[in-house]
Amino acid sequence: MQLKQTLASAITRLGADHVPSPRLNAELLLMFTLDCDRAYLYAHPEHKLALDEQSRYDAALAERGRGVPTQYITGHQEFWGMDLIVSPAVLIPRPETEHVVEAVLELAGVKKTSGPKVFPLPSSLRIADVGTGSGCIALALAKELPHAEIRASDISAAALEVARANAARHQLESRIQFHQADLLAGFENNSVDLIVSNPPYVGESEEDQVQLEVRKFEPRSAVFAGPTGIEVIKRLIPQARVALRPGGWLVMEISGTISEKVRHLLQDWNDVRIRPDLQSIPRVAQAQK
Ligand SMILES: C[S@@+](CC[C@H](N)C(=O)[O-])C[C@H]1O[C@@H](n2cnc3c(N)ncnc32)[C@H](O)[C@@H]1O
Repeated sequence: MQLKQTLASAITRLGADHVPSPRLNAELLLMFTLDCDRAYLYAHPEHKLALDEQSRYDAALAERGRGVPTQYITGHQEFWGMDLIVSPAVLIPRPETEHVVEAVLELAGVKKTSGPKVFPLPSSLRIADVGTGSGCIALALAKELPHAEIRASDISAAALEVARANAARHQLESRIQFHQADLLAGFENNSVDLIVSNPPYVGESEEDQVQLEVRKFEPRSAVFAGPTGIEVIKRLIPQARVALRPGGWLVMEISGTISEKVRHLLQDWNDVRIRPDLQSIPRVAQAQK
């Protein structure tokens, strides 16, 4: 079959399987199968798929049809302009997490701040990324802050393997020290300038509101924190206060559901600020020790 017919029937098939954005997904999976870019799809509509290409594309469509996220099928997701490897051991990095990176860069003084205050952090920052998953935040910061010393932890050994592979893929392995830990266990007191984290923050009580794909295929321990969603953050905030040097910053991704609880937990901190994402949902909490 020719590429344009294959694509048209894939769009129909994904639509019938109730896959959101069927055209986009059909194209992404075809680009993955043929190892080509989108321009090729449109420049070569008459390209005839070889039998093995057709059968690999069918297999990918079948996976997508049963709900497997496209990124777990292709094994890739872009974050902060970097192509990252993803597997079902890690959360698929989300675009809104780039706001967390932006907040850190503002505090580090390398990005113009939207607020009045920029805290001048030292040029060789000691940063900890807690719950690094694919390593997306640590990698983005390593790329943007060439003098920062970065430690990244996760409780999951399988996630750390993916994070290390991503660091190697982007020649940043010498810049980030990865280790397996429960939150900030192993960090010395007053030893870190900035702690950044996108922790699990969804409550089991909100499970019905979480997309089925996320519930079925993304790691449960990366998404759900416990019954209310605040459980991990509730442990992280006091640990961060001990690990940070005086004047250091904590920057966390949060959700609208828990933002007021987070603000309350940060009541003894200075300069608490909660920033919204592009949908005006409270998304990043930052506070100074
Ligand atoms: C929401 S994911 C974020 C992953 C990645 N930082 C990102 O932004 O895409 C949360 C991560 O925290 C890790 N995690 C969960 N509980 C943890 C704990 N107690 N200590 C350390 N990491 C934990 C999970 O394994 C998961 O990789």
